[in-house]
Amino acid sequence: IDVAKIRNFSIVAHVDHGKSTLADRLLELTGVIKPGHENRQVLDQLQVERERGITVKAVTASLNYTFNNEQYLLNLIDTPGHVDFSNEVVRSVKACQGVILLVDANEGVQAQTVAVHSLAKRNNLIIIPTLNKVDLPRADPENVKAQLKSLFNINPDDVMSISAKKGWGVQELLQAVITKIPPPPADFKKHFKANIIDTWHDKYRGIMCLAYIESGTIQVGQTVKWRSDLKQHTLKYLALLRPGEEPIDKAVAGQVVMVGCGPKGGGCVGDQLLSLESAENIKVATAPTVKHMVYAGIYPADQSQHTQLSDAIKKLALNDSAVSVNIDSSPALGQGWRIGFLGLLHLDVFTQRLLQEHKAEAILTAPSVPYKIKVKGSKLIKQYKGDEVLITNPLQLPEASNILEYYEPLVIGTIITPVEYIGAVTTLCVDRRGTPLPSSAVDDKMTMMQFVLPLSEVVIDFHDTLKSLTSGFASFDYQDHGFHPSALVRMDIVLNGVLVDELCTIVHTSRLEYTAKKLTAKLKEMIPRQMVQIAIQAIVSGKVYSRETIKAYRKDVTAKLYGGDITRRKKLLKQQSEGKKKMRSVANIKIPRNTFIDVLKR
Ligand code: GTP
Repeated sequence: IDVAKIRNFSIVAHVDHGKSTLADRLLELTGVIKPGHENRQVLDQLQVERERGITVKAVTASLNYTFNNEQYLLNLIDTPGHVDFSNEVVRSVKACQGVILLVDANEGVQAQTVAVHSLAKRNNLIIIPTLNKVDLPRADPENVKAQLKSLFNINPDDVMSISAKKGWGVQELLQAVITKIPPPPADFKKHFKANIIDTWHDKYRGIMCLAYIESGTIQVGQTVKWRSDLKQHTLKYLALLRPGEEPIDKAVAGQVVMVGCGPKGGGCVGDQLLSLESAENIKVATAPTVKHMVYAGIYPADQSQHTQLSDAIKKLALNDSAVSVNIDSSPALGQGWRIGFLGLLHLDVFTQRLLQEHKAEAILTAPSVPYKIKVKGSKLIKQYKGDEVLITNPLQLPEASNILEYYEPLVIGTIITPVEYIGAVTTLCVDRRGTPLPSSAVDDKMTMMQFVLPLSEVVIDFHDTLKSLTSGFASFDYQDHGFHPSALVRMDIVLNGVLVDELCTIVHTSRLEYTAKKLTAKLKEMIPRQMVQIAIQAIVSGKVYSRETIKAYRKDVTAKLYGGDITRRKKLLKQQSEGKKKMRSVANIKIPRNTFIDVLKR
């Protein structure tokens, strides 16, 4: 293979602007799949992707294409669209020299278009701006070209127009990929070196990796070593993904291929596979730096399923390198894990995949964002190995008197909205403790607004609220803005004078009364009446911010049965006692297990 005939590219766009549809057309044009309905969105392989209609994992496809009598190898790297998966986007982008920036000619530039455009710019990639869905009667290509000009300074003459659905202009787009995007900067003379951009688990063959070969050549049977531990392995599997596997014997620099070294062969995202002769002889930690934005506890529905769930989490974490997994336990829920995610959609998809791909049923606690604190006292500093501590669970907080400063994660939120909703959007963002940044006009109907927002105010239901406020017309994306000092405190929940650890939360001081009222009201709803009166209090540093009372009540379930049949009475009592097993008891108060899971959800 001649490197000059290789192109590595990706399609980036706002959600639903047509990436998967375009990928399908490209696969058809290059003869990978036959035109027809049954092939729709072949790249969205996972069941969860099919159900949700979104792309979760980046998948690649190597396509053969003849242009001007020359045969080209085009490596299309499909990327997920949602903000939560932006680290997958970043990884795949690193193996590319260019991107097709797809914009719906009907909707125009959206918040995520801005995000992916700046990502491509930051990585010095060639951008092929492309309008999609030009077949729609409401499409307004001229206006969207003007938006691209005003926001990104893109020359309207450079913008391509296609309909991925009808196949219009796709041939020309593929030719533009060849003529505008350069071949990969591959060096054959150097030793073999490949970057792992994705991994997944194969039942029989072990860990399979998607690799971008940076330099040298590789053959099946060759001895290789990992950059992370320098352990030697024999390369057992080598294939092109079209996107089905096509085994090959040899691959060269510039190519994107599947590699595998067998069940004990290892491999993880961010690691490098090297030739044995390569001079790199120092172990280098290669763990990708992923910022976890949302944490949640995951527990087996029943402790007897602990091993099964543990297995499933391990396998899934291998395929989804963006999660962090730590063992956790809770008096109410038993042994489990605290898992870090990139965002709420990521969390949702992870649990859905656990169920669908690994048949593991899990209970999920309310999600929370990580905080940082600065502690004082040599004992604490020693315990936490430093004075700055990342808190992923409010339970880990030390006594308030030992905390010098709290920090919370902020994001820069980008919102593109029709101008008539500017007031409503501003109110929402200010209500969520946001600080406005300068805004800019997209065109005469749309505007781009930016706010610095606390992540905790964004992760729960910001997107849904924004959508309903703007009749679905505003789009939203966010990027990390780091940790900043904040007036935070720990709010405790006390039942009849006894603290319930698992219900404590971290709250901003401007939200104390609001949160306290909400929590106590919800608990009153969720805890059933019992033999004793129950006082529910939300307390911060000794001060009670809200109190609710559940009156005592003798629940005689058999009273209604008028003596009647004794077996029926026994059956009822048995059912009742089984129900009690699912309760956690605090200060003689029985709290249903789901209280711990649901009370902190908004
Ligand atoms: P995510 O993977 O969720 O980011 O979505 P996507 O960008 O891959 O979008 P997808 O290809 O799933 O397309 C979204 C919707 O737009 C689907 O209903 C497509 O049928 C439709 N669509 C895509 N391209 C066109 C087009 O050229 N014309 C029309 N009319 N509809 C299109």
